[in-house]
Amino acid sequence: MRLSGSHVLLTGATGTIGSRLAAELALRGARLTLVARRPGPLEALAARLGGAAVPTDLTDTRGLPDLVAAAEAHHGPVDVLLHNAAVETVGTLSEVRDGEVADAVALNLGAPLELTRLVLPSMLARRQGCVVGVSSLAALATFPGLSVYGATKAGLSAALAGLRIELRGTGVRTTTVEIGPVASEMMERIGSQPLAAAAFARARSLRVLPVLDADAVALAVVDAVEGDRPRLTLPRRAAPLASLTEAPRAVVRVALTGLRPATRDAVRA
Ligand SMILES: NC(=O)c1ccc[n+]([C@@H]2O[C@H](COP(=O)([O-])OP(=O)(O)OC[C@H]3O[C@@H](n4cnc5c(N)ncnc54)[C@H](OP(=O)(O)O)[C@@H]3O)[C@@H](O)[C@H]2O)c1
Repeated sequence: MRLSGSHVLLTGATGTIGSRLAAELALRGARLTLVARRPGPLEALAARLGGAAVPTDLTDTRGLPDLVAAAEAHHGPVDVLLHNAAVETVGTLSEVRDGEVADAVALNLGAPLELTRLVLPSMLARRQGCVVGVSSLAALATFPGLSVYGATKAGLSAALAGLRIELRGTGVRTTTVEIGPVASEMMERIGSQPLAAAAFARARSLRVLPVLDADAVALAVVDAVEGDRPRLTLPRRAAPLASLTEAPRAVVRVALTGLRPATRDAVRA
């Protein structure tokens, strides 16, 4: 997917990873629609990078058609939909507060599905586009103290895996990004939960989960989109974990759809 001149709608644009993604995308000549809730930091980022700021609370799905309309009014149809906004919902299920489960499901899973549903018809009509989900290694592995977050990220990864099959032969692609801990405020908040902190400390002592640098993550994600890669796992040493998790799913997928899954057009014919 050529990013120069492409319209990228990026959610969570003001966060640790989002602001780096926005900067890297701008550097490659993308036309940006940037989304987060707080207008101040969002407008400052858009002014710095030359993109359009559309402040939106993504947990309210009623506002999503307006978001897509505003993005299209600024830059025309969306070429790349990059789902990056998320909330980590730290705590065991018995610890999380009223409303936190609904908010996490709405932001981390519901908004990406609904936004994708709204943007896909235009991508399909133009036979081009890319839907990117920033998921997490928590989609693949169980991190105690992060059950709600892990469930939403597993849902996002699963949705993109299904979408990838549905989109075969259409020219529209997906990229699933599953990343481990990044030096960030999100990780500091996660570290405040004793069970989660213990799990990450153990992973660190086993040297399986080095803490990633946000700039390097952003660069790798943008490279993956530009290189039409369906999947990116970071750190790279976690790739065997992703393969182990993926292997049984791949077997079942082949059983259900065949080695060369039918395209939508072929199934309709
Ligand atoms: N940090 C890590 O270690 C790590 C590890 C694995 C995966 N990830 C994934 O990477 C992505 C980015 O993480 P990050 O650390 O950069 O997060 P972050 O710094 O906490 O940023 C979150 C972004 O989402 C926006 N946001 C939050 N709630 C929103 C809402 N209701 N509606 C619209 N926007 C909202 C925030 O802006 P406002 O507050 O202004 O809305 C901000 O721009 C997430 O998907 C995360 O799950 C992160």
